[in-house]
Amino acid sequence: MQSFEQLSQQFSAHFNQKHFPPEPASLYEPNEYFLKAGGKRIRPVLCLMGNELFDEIKPDAWEMATAIELFHNFTLIHDDIMDNAPLRRGIETVPKKYGANTALLAGDVMLIAAYELMNNVSLTVIRRVQNLFNATAKEVCEGQQLDMDFEKLESVAFDQYLRMIELKTSVLLAASLKMGAILGGAGERNQNLLYEFGRKLGLAFQVQDDYLDAFGDPDKFGKQVGGDIVANKKTFLLIHAWETASASQKKELNKLIQDSSGDKVKKLIRVFKDCKADEWALELKNKFLDEAFGHLEDIAVLSKRKQPLKDLATYLIKRDH
Ligand code: IPE
Ligand code: IPE
Ligand code: MG
Ligand code: MG
Ligand code: MG
Repeated sequence: MQSFEQLSQQFSAHFNQKHFPPEPASLYEPNEYFLKAGGKRIRPVLCLMGNELFDEIKPDAWEMATAIELFHNFTLIHDDIMDNAPLRRGIETVPKKYGANTALLAGDVMLIAAYELMNNVSLTVIRRVQNLFNATAKEVCEGQQLDMDFEKLESVAFDQYLRMIELKTSVLLAASLKMGAILGGAGERNQNLLYEFGRKLGLAFQVQDDYLDAFGDPDKFGKQVGGDIVANKKTFLLIHAWETASASQKKELNKLIQDSSGDKVKKLIRVFKDCKADEWALELKNKFLDEAFGHLEDIAVLSKRKQPLKDLATYLIKRDH
């Protein structure tokens, strides 16, 4: 069984090459620029781990892992248009550097490249993984649209938030694991348990993502601090603040949300702190992680085979970028 470090190193060796032709450079260079900036490569590793939980890693899993990482990068390029984000992975985002129109098309062509890679998967399993991939990709679009719809709402209930992050983030982590499990020859019950593990882990993962937006160390985070606040995102931080604020804090929140001055970010982070949103984050992440581990526990393989997934899950909710 291999650790996250080992698998992400192997995946990087496999992935870090040019993925697009040189011409027209105005279309392909932005993609190479973005892919070169790295990223944690979590989803491909989840796919490889999902396979290795049940059997040695198959060549199909490498194809799938690569397709998944390209798909993820496509979602990020388009996400940075939608979120008007200037910075990612410590560099300028594709839309900031090359413009939204190019980012749209560069993202599109990256999605197509992901589908091309999937075509290399063996005929005996391609249908099953592709169906899951397609269903997941549609859910991600649904989640992304909800995320944008929520920007315009005054308030969003915690349950609505959970559904939104499940769609935009969790399902891809869950599906990456399940695709690996399918390729590793797992039975249906084990596949589904692994999916549930990923779904709960994904919720904790997005909670950490939202947490870092306000409380991350700018030197390590790689994105614009307070980007969610500027974009009026309904993160769990804001929802928790609404739910726990005193009358006077509510008044301040109302004022701050309509504020568009440079101080908005600093002041809202202060309110989040006063409402102990950082402590709530810890509680939430631990709850989801416990639930995730419950599903992992139920998977019928030797418990020592599960260790790399446990370690990775623990790292993901504590990560600083
Ligand atoms: C960012 O994902 C998008 C979310 C779903 C929160 P990652 O944090 O995995 O991004 P990279 O690939 O490591 O940059
Ligand atoms: C992004 O969520 C989810 C997808 C790209 C599908 P966020 O908008 O919170 O991700 P970051 O913070 O920009 O990485
Ligand atoms: Mg974003
Ligand atoms: Mg977004
Ligand atoms: Mg975010």
